[in-house]
Amino acid sequence: MKHLLKVLDLDKEEIIDILNLADQLKYELKHKIPHPHLKGKSLGMIFQKASTRTRVSFEVGMHQLGGHPLFLSSSDLQIGRGEPVQDTARVLARYLDGIMIRTFEQKEVEDLAEFGGIPVINGLTDFSHPCQVLADLMTIRELKGQFEGLKMCYIGDGNNMCNSLIVGCLKVGMDVSVSCPKGYEPDAKALEFAADYTNFKITVKPPEAAAEADIVITDVWSSMGREDEAEKRRKAFAGYQVNDEIMSAAKPDAIVLHCLPAHRGEEITAKVLEEHAGEIFEEAENRLHAQKAVMVKLMA
Ligand code: CP
Ligand code: NVA
Repeated sequence: MKHLLKVLDLDKEEIIDILNLADQLKYELKHKIPHPHLKGKSLGMIFQKASTRTRVSFEVGMHQLGGHPLFLSSSDLQIGRGEPVQDTARVLARYLDGIMIRTFEQKEVEDLAEFGGIPVINGLTDFSHPCQVLADLMTIRELKGQFEGLKMCYIGDGNNMCNSLIVGCLKVGMDVSVSCPKGYEPDAKALEFAADYTNFKITVKPPEAAAEADIVITDVWSSMGREDEAEKRRKAFAGYQVNDEIMSAAKPDAIVLHCLPAHRGEEITAKVLEEHAGEIFEEAENRLHAQKAVMVKLMA
């Protein structure tokens, strides 16, 4: 594994390996056992979109590993004034040991990896959010003990989270059911991957997708960059909310995950979110541990 660009690139063993290391790093942190695997290394973090969790967890995670994180907002970089990513990559590769980037187009992340020659980590694109899905899988295994025999249901927009969850959950052996409104389906590449799996289902009826689910997941109706469609999307997504009705279709001990930020009253009710806050905020914490594992795998 040279980069973390999208979930599609990972095989099951690589995912399990990352999760095992993440569990170990979480244990070491809780027991105050130092783990300076990246002493003397630097990670540049390029952000072309806002972030709370990704920025802080990478920054703190790098610090805990003995390395140095640099926050690079695109509005301050020459990238924001049109310097091509191919040039930026070749320059940054001479100063840094790794780059994390959050941006719009998946191609930009792939180009950065191709031209830079140092490990690149996708901190979210319109297509994929691999760091989030690793944290989600870590949380599922922590709370449910295994992947086999579990059903993950995703309700809402066929966005970066939906694409990544479909691929990640199928790869580790879970059943996957997705419900998106017509016109808001997952990316064709995720559906193409899922087409080989008989344990994958997609429907326009959310209660059908949620039936007997062990894990219920949703995400915002309007992702970053789509804010101008919010009004239209609110109409299209009415009926695609994780609420009591959906939870009564799922198993009684089902957990709920949300990558956050959440919009209470849109994709999830305040009641369901608060009833499952334990899982959702453990999931947010696990971003730290999962990403530290990724950085150690790629940069140590
Ligand atoms: N879930 C997630 O990636 O959060 P941020 O946008 O706050 O980084
Ligand atoms: N789908 C959301 C995820 C935010 C972490 C977005 O891209 O804005």
